[in-house]
Amino acid sequence: MAKFLTDSPRDIELAGKLLRAGTLVAIPTETVYGLAANAFDEDAVRRIFLAKGRPFIDPLIVHVATFAQAGIVADTANPAAAKLAERFCPGPLTMVLPKKSCVPQIVTAGEPTVAVRMPRHPLTQKIMASAGVPLAAPSANPFGYVSPTTAQHVQDSLGDKIGYIVDGGSCDCGIESTIVLVGEQIRILRLGAITREEISECLGAPVALSRGLMETAAEGARGNDGARPQLAPGMLKKHYSPHAQVCLVDNAEREFPPLFGEVRRSLPREKFAFVFQKRPPKLAGAGGDFASAENVFWLSESGSAADAARAVFALLRKLDAAGYEKIFIEKCRDTGIGAAVNDRLSRAAAK
Ligand code: TXA
Ligand code: MG
Repeated sequence: MAKFLTDSPRDIELAGKLLRAGTLVAIPTETVYGLAANAFDEDAVRRIFLAKGRPFIDPLIVHVATFAQAGIVADTANPAAAKLAERFCPGPLTMVLPKKSCVPQIVTAGEPTVAVRMPRHPLTQKIMASAGVPLAAPSANPFGYVSPTTAQHVQDSLGDKIGYIVDGGSCDCGIESTIVLVGEQIRILRLGAITREEISECLGAPVALSRGLMETAAEGARGNDGARPQLAPGMLKKHYSPHAQVCLVDNAEREFPPLFGEVRRSLPREKFAFVFQKRPPKLAGAGGDFASAENVFWLSESGSAADAARAVFALLRKLDAAGYEKIFIEKCRDTGIGAAVNDRLSRAAAK
């Protein structure tokens, strides 16, 4: 069991000290919880990969407290970097920029670029100030599993591998940062809490998605065999997956009631869950009020995609813990943050 630390000045000081000295500490951010280490400490960074079971070809994000600190680890001269930072930092944006030589190769998996993010969660900022060094931190989950949005989620799946978890409550965004490649070309490598529309508007031109993302959006992505780094190496087709099998549907109100009867013939009711995007109206199905059955869930009261983003990972974990074997989930509307929720859902559903 890892020890929980609080937001008390004493614990914040301790977290900073531990991080500086090379200990791993799970920390809250506004997106998801991260498993942090001093980015300049190769040994500590290696232990992040080992704790997560993450392949060494999948580079980490370096978290910084200020734009000036970003300039220590990355070349921030690209005018687009300044524009994006001005508008979205601190916040759930990660920029992939040319790397400075002080960043160990292990952090960037040997890439010439480094992913940099400035979190806006007040407690993360205090921990970073206390540590005084940039923090390499991936999401604090075993590789491939659902990202954690509470301190207890981290305890549940990594508690036996790490010593400390700072508890900052539930994450505000609930899904990871948006990753933008800021080089000669500007591309979105991962959809996230900041929308593609907002990035395009800030830069005054439409910003394209990386090819892998477009393929996933079209549900045509071929799995990466993990043999070589890709543009966004962590964007494997299958990721963010609960143990239960996930199946996506376009319209739950239409598709769930007949499915309910159909699935029931092959699986007992306690083995499958139905997840609507918003609280369902009364729906008949399989001889009762289907919408009030105990295996029916929803991601938001009113259909807000931001609420769905906040809830989605916690619900997947809850359904796993409850022992469901099959989860049917309705897709979000595919715009704004809904597109990022759909990206996570299609990866969770990938074979
Ligand atoms: O919201 C977030 O970004 C969270 C919090 C903790 O900050 N972090 C996070 O880290 O989601 P992680 O490691 O789970 O996902 C980082 C993604 C991976 O897909 C990785 O391949 C990609 O960022 N990445 C990191 N460095 C990169 C680089 N130099 N070039 C391209 N992609 C990179
Ligand atoms: Mg992750």
